[in-house]
Amino acid sequence: MEVIIKNDYDGVCTESAAIIQEACRHKSSPVLGFPTGKTPLGLYEKLIGFYNQGGIDFASITAFNLDEYVGLEASHPQSFAYYMDNHLFRYVNIKRENVFRLNGQPGNIEEHCRSYEKKIQEVGGIDVQILGIGKNGHIAFNEPGSSLSSRTRLKILTRETVEANKPFFLNEREVPRFCLTMGIGTIVEAKMVLLLAAGKDKAESVARAIEGPVTASIPASALQLHARAIFVIDEAAASGLTNRDYYRWAYESKDRALDPLKIIPTKLKK
Ligand code: PGA
Repeated sequence: MEVIIKNDYDGVCTESAAIIQEACRHKSSPVLGFPTGKTPLGLYEKLIGFYNQGGIDFASITAFNLDEYVGLEASHPQSFAYYMDNHLFRYVNIKRENVFRLNGQPGNIEEHCRSYEKKIQEVGGIDVQILGIGKNGHIAFNEPGSSLSSRTRLKILTRETVEANKPFFLNEREVPRFCLTMGIGTIVEAKMVLLLAAGKDKAESVARAIEGPVTASIPASALQLHARAIFVIDEAAASGLTNRDYYRWAYESKDRALDPLKIIPTKLKK
């Protein structure tokens, strides 16, 4: 795992956008997985900025949404489909036919989840899966206790999530109790996983995910088994990490390691 610690949230978003841009430069048809939530908002602004400056072309990008509430139409302002359109897709030149999302009103849920997984396979897998992390260590809607090998499926939302969502709905009956989410097994099959976290309230889950044991109780800890998992976090979210000085040192040393010539003293260079 690579842990990149930036001073603040803006730094987290800038670094993450640069990593995504770089990953996209190396693929003719990159496949990205997109999360919702507060944390990625700044990242999406940066990506839109890169797009406007010609730094990233979404025409060749295929997108998969990470999760969705069951019962909501894509046009519902609380749906994750709406969120992605509203915060990223409508501002860039992504092709509508290249945007795949979990349908909040599927006819047959199991069949829909299976075909979502199949679609991911058909396009060659996800190159970069972007993630946030919950205060309880969840990734996507894989709450603590989710199987580390779970696939895209129906999940029951936590009581806290249902309660927290109430103000956003006109009446209580409309508040979703179920969701569809990529599984942890689905997520860790991405070639690169990029997790963003900012703020003190994420410090404990970040520390447990990076330095604690791999456990279904902290779903994000499954990323310890991934060969290319990058955590981009701010100082506040890093505050619970025992090894944070090493992560900073490793990040500063990375450029040298990537270019062996840079570690040869100048006078020995021809
Ligand atoms: P947040 O959510 O970005 O709104 O904090 C992250 C998550 O729950 O995965």
